[in-house]
Amino acid sequence: MPTFVTMEPTTQFELRLADRMSRLGTETAFEVLNKARALERQGKKIIHLEIGEPDFDTPGNVVEAAVSALHKGWTHYGPSAGLPDLRQAIAEEVSRTRKVQCTSDEVVVVPGGKPIIFFSILALVNAGDEVIFPNPGFPIYESMINYIGGKAVSIRLREEHDFGLDVSELASLINDRTKLIIINSPQNPTGGVLSRQDIHEIAQAIGDRNLFVLSDEIYSRLIFDGQHHSIMSEPGFKDRTILLDGFSKTYAMTGWRMGYGVMRPDLATHITRLMTNSNSCTASFTQVAGIEALRGDQSSVDHMRSEFQRRRDVFVAGLNRIKGFSCRMPKGAFYVFPNIQKTGWTSKRLADALLEEAGVACLSGTAFGDFGEGYLRFSVANSLENLKQALQQIDAWTKRNI
Ligand SMILES: Cc1ncc(COP(=O)(O)O)c(C=O)c1O
Repeated sequence: MPTFVTMEPTTQFELRLADRMSRLGTETAFEVLNKARALERQGKKIIHLEIGEPDFDTPGNVVEAAVSALHKGWTHYGPSAGLPDLRQAIAEEVSRTRKVQCTSDEVVVVPGGKPIIFFSILALVNAGDEVIFPNPGFPIYESMINYIGGKAVSIRLREEHDFGLDVSELASLINDRTKLIIINSPQNPTGGVLSRQDIHEIAQAIGDRNLFVLSDEIYSRLIFDGQHHSIMSEPGFKDRTILLDGFSKTYAMTGWRMGYGVMRPDLATHITRLMTNSNSCTASFTQVAGIEALRGDQSSVDHMRSEFQRRRDVFVAGLNRIKGFSCRMPKGAFYVFPNIQKTGWTSKRLADALLEEAGVACLSGTAFGDFGEGYLRFSVANSLENLKQALQQIDAWTKRNI
């Protein structure tokens, strides 16, 4: 059951929430960020390795495109599914990168990648339907499945499988009640990447069952070793895949709120209806800038990726020198997920102690599900200098306490 920050009642009227609200989870990263900020207000210095967003600025050409769009009057409502030109640019991008033919009527533009998770589950899952999701994994999957009354079925990602998916285990979890399978590669929090062979085997395990795969590919451009493969390009899966991608991570645009889903056109019309009912549309001038992001100079994407790789290498090597820590080399995204079982501490206690006593904010592996126990998640979206400083502080703390 999710935990919340409860507030003292301020009125005589009892707050009578809908029952489903007790099943809604959260994303701990934002809570840890708040706690870290509170410590900073008390004068403590904190190195922030908790939040999952690039520390780079949005590329200048994209900012310029947005400013110019504002001056040109892109300040009104647009179509709920997104501006036709952006949908076209996304269809071309996905066709090229996933080697599958997509058209603009299969694209729905939404405010960030998250709404595609929300809307897909709302549109497809009835109470009692089963949804398989990765654990440890992005916490919003489990939160949303529980919220709408679906049955959340974990597939455990194991360190000994390099945090890939055990396909025979997946096969054993699929049954006639399975409505949706969520996969995520490159993966948050482990940095695991599914190979072409993994994707092929997952497709074979699903076979010709009439279910959907929500393929969360938000880190598709952040792969250090190997290439990105999408289940959408597996034969027979185009009609059963909802591909989630967006601008937040690739173009350092987390605060702009823009992402997209690619799916068969009949489902796209329903996801669009959810957009009409919730947001009306994604902000028009940001969408104009999105076209520039996709079609303009990509050198900043390459620069960010090589910078994350450099930091990953330094941080993983440093963690492996710290007593009680052992860390695999993540193949993608910008997270590092060390095993801390040999410290003898539980993940939450260790994460709290590192924040309060070592001045390093990170997340407990359990923020990503039960199977995250025994791990911590660090984001390397911070300067090399700060990462090295964090390593020193963690090392000094463990020498005193472990
Ligand atoms: C795996 C995964 N999917 C989706 C998202 C949501 O991205 P956005 O900020 O674009 O909503 C995130 C963000 O952290 C993520 O890690």
